Amino acid sequence: MRNLILIGPMGAGKSTIGRLLAKELRLPFKDSDKEIEQRTGADIPWIFDVEGEQGFRDREQAMIEELCGHDGVVLATGGGAVLRPANRQALRGGGRVVYLHTSVEQQIERTSRDRNRPLLRSADPGKVLRDLMAIRDPLYREIADIIIETDERPPRMVVQEILARL
Ligand code: S3P
Repeated sequence: MRNLILIGPMGAGKSTIGRLLAKELRLPFKDSDKEIEQRTGADIPWIFDVEGEQGFRDREQAMIEELCGHDGVVLATGGGAVLRPANRQALRGGGRVVYLHTSVEQQIERTSRDRNRPLLRSADPGKVLRDLMAIRDPLYREIADIIIETDERPPRMVVQEILARL
């Protein structure tokens, strides 16, 4: 079986839903950000601070290319994983791609207590999320096989819908 790949913005629930999906499907779960952190021994904010966003994107690209080469894995990606054309190609070729669509309002609610996202350190994270969404939504849609609405729905319900549509 090919991989099942979750894409979408910060606060879409990719890690939570990915973990639940992997359990249901009895497949290993991989989270590209967590893999980067394990390999480097540093957390994502530290990588942004020391290497800049481009440094992080280089690590992210290498990780995505590696993980997409696996088989039978549920993979959660970072919200910016679709930015580079090479990543989009790797993701599309790596398995079934599921876009967890989430409104900016829900993203704000779900990310407001989390300090682990360097791009949201701004004084106005809502504007950042809106601006990112305007650029990225077409990119998520470009490579998605399935688009799932996550607003106002608990993770287990989202998982059931993904399973029904696979
Ligand atoms: C990012 C999203 C984060 C992480 C990094 C950059 C982005 O992952 O990769 O902070 O560019 O949207 P999550 O989507 O899991 O928060």
